[in-house]
Amino acid sequence: MKTAIKLSAIIVIAGVTFSACAPKITAEKSTRATEKNSVAPSIASIPEGEKTYKLSCGRCHKLEDPAEFTKKEWGPIMRSMAKKANLNEVEKQNVLAYVLSHSK
Ligand code: HEC
Repeated sequence: MKTAIKLSAIIVIAGVTFSACAPKITAEKSTRATEKNSVAPSIASIPEGEKTYKLSCGRCHKLEDPAEFTKKEWGPIMRSMAKKANLNEVEKQNVLAYVLSHSK
């Protein structure tokens, strides 16, 4: 009986010790936050954006002239059109960089 109590005490202590050294989650979180931030316009490429634009944005309507819209108009347009064209985050940033560089 005594041995059983001792044994369970050891298991409890071991459990506490284990959970005490688990700061893994915080470390992963901060890495992910950094990765997210690095998908910023800094890696957006205007020539890549132009290619994607010509390939993906004339499927449903004529290729719109980027100069027909202001920078302010392009933000919300790209938010809805990127979804329609199934662009990933990088393609979206590139196309946005392209249209903004030719906008009104
Ligand atoms: C799946 C079809 C589809 C694809 C792909 C698509 N569009 Fe459109 N687009 C539409 C439709 C439908 C409208 C008009 C209605 C609306 O605004 O949702 C439109 C409207 C527009 C307009 C006019 C908005 C306005 O306010 O007059 C622009 C500019 C535009 N699209 C740009 C783009 C760009 C840039 C892409 C590529 C990233 C793209 N579209 C891809 C369907 C599409």
